[in-house]
Amino acid sequence: MASSPNPVKKVPIHLQSAQNRVYIKNGEIVNHDKAFKADVYIEDGIIKFIGPAADITVPGGVRTIDASGKLIIPGGIDPHTHMQLPFGNAVAVDDFYHGTKAAVAGGTTMIIDFVLPNKNESMLEAYDKWRSWADPKVCCDYGFHVGITWWSKSVSKELGILCNELGVNSFKTFMAYKGLYQLNDSDLLDVFERIRELKAVAMVHAENGDIIAKNAARLLAEGVTGPEGHELSRQEEVEAEAVHRACILAHQVDCPLYVVHVMSKSAGIELARARQRYNKKYIFGETLAAALGTDGTHYRCQHFGHAAAHVLSPPLRPDKTTPEFMMKLLASDDLQTTGSDNCTFNKSQKELGLGDFTKIPNGVNGVEDRMSLVWERGVHSGLLDPCRFVAITSTNAARIFNIYPQKGRIAVGSDADIVIWDPQATRTISKDTHHHACDFNIFEGMTVHGVPEYVLVRGRICVENGSVRVAEGFGRFIPSPLRPAFVYDSLEGKVEEEQVDQKNSNGNNRVADLDAHVSSQLPPAVMFSGKTTPTTPEGSRGRVDGKRDLQESSFSISQELDTAGVRSSIKVHNPPGGKSSGFW
Ligand code: URP
Ligand code: ZN
Ligand code: ZN
Repeated sequence: MASSPNPVKKVPIHLQSAQNRVYIKNGEIVNHDKAFKADVYIEDGIIKFIGPAADITVPGGVRTIDASGKLIIPGGIDPHTHMQLPFGNAVAVDDFYHGTKAAVAGGTTMIIDFVLPNKNESMLEAYDKWRSWADPKVCCDYGFHVGITWWSKSVSKELGILCNELGVNSFKTFMAYKGLYQLNDSDLLDVFERIRELKAVAMVHAENGDIIAKNAARLLAEGVTGPEGHELSRQEEVEAEAVHRACILAHQVDCPLYVVHVMSKSAGIELARARQRYNKKYIFGETLAAALGTDGTHYRCQHFGHAAAHVLSPPLRPDKTTPEFMMKLLASDDLQTTGSDNCTFNKSQKELGLGDFTKIPNGVNGVEDRMSLVWERGVHSGLLDPCRFVAITSTNAARIFNIYPQKGRIAVGSDADIVIWDPQATRTISKDTHHHACDFNIFEGMTVHGVPEYVLVRGRICVENGSVRVAEGFGRFIPSPLRPAFVYDSLEGKVEEEQVDQKNSNGNNRVADLDAHVSSQLPPAVMFSGKTTPTTPEGSRGRVDGKRDLQESSFSISQELDTAGVRSSIKVHNPPGGKSSGFW
């Protein structure tokens, strides 16, 4: 049913170039909290009007798009990319041009990339270097997280400068990559304490780097040299232990923590438990398009190139039920965001790891296909409704990193980062048609429902019926201010516990995501049991009328674990599938 969120008044439209003005009519707007029919008028990259056609006079010359039967959603925000990342002896082939072009082609209108300083390198110098790489090339807006790869008084001081002067409010720490980026617990505590003092957000790559180093050395000594060794050296409990430890370390110093790339059931469960333990005040979790769209059985493929193309850290899991499990965690708000960790290497670069899996450059594609994959596996399969889709592909990242509602919402005053989404259309993913610079696509051959028919980046039409026309350098750096209200209001007791999820980053009330509260209401004796949103009849999609479907599902983490046979330890002496020398 059509409804207007604005008071009824005619909006005057100033005559300007048609380039700057777009009118979208007859579509259904979907925000994270409600969906409704309304028209949208855009001028100079900003949404100027939302409401019924009767409330606006559109002069001639304005570009008009008929969105009948389509959804008007906030452009995707990918909170985790690594464009042109130098990694070992390789540099990721998607640079800031190809990477953001691929992003836009898939309906993502903002990325948050990582500045990763080398050990002993100044964070400020690294930041300048990354800005000089990104600014001339980005086709959509972008922001930065910065990695804390070593710790000292000077790093602590630079953190303050990054936060107060350079628009960074989130910092990634590493519990893995021993000898390269890994911090010990004592340094992690100091880092988290400093981040809390600044009212920023800590991020963590949660895998136990000491265990991985030991396992990798043992596997190589036993002759397990192929890509399957990657997953064998860092199995689920290696990730889960680190998630558990990181959450406790952060809680000890009262620091909010965003766990990046949660890749396994066990790690997801640790995260869900920590959120439950701390009343959702400290912990946020992200999973990846890769974890939702494919699995770790590829590591056993006999072709090195195919198996190596799937190598990322933490790895994909061989348990084929993992992708659906991760989607259910997103549905029940045990995970909040989806990223891509887009970090692409070509076959020739992956071959650096021939004969030694530890030398395979880590990383996969995902920035282009994330939106369609989440739609296909989430909404089309009946596990998510479209509002939750918007939350986990856009709004939650905007709220956590404090760029909401400039980004992540279709609202008057917000940037016109808009996707006109065709939920019925399908496309088949392929390296031959993708917009990445890489020669492999981990989702090759998948047909997905949900296609971005139009993509507007700050009002500029960059995708139109399959044709992608981006402008190199059009994107801007978007500063992330300190103290995201979405994170800190609850931490500082500024809102009642039950209101935590009803405030946006401006402190305004919004319609509650009722489903997000289910897990905290469970008795402590229950390991965990979430409800998914919604359990629609088979084949039907979630609702877009703004009323959430909250029927109970049978999803239970403990039950899933019992039946899925999650592996809790590595047996390097008899790795499943045998050793590299003879695997299929
Ligand atoms: O394998 C991955 N994830 N590559 C990028 C670096 C990181 O740890 O995110
Ligand atoms: Zn990482
Ligand atoms: Zn990453």
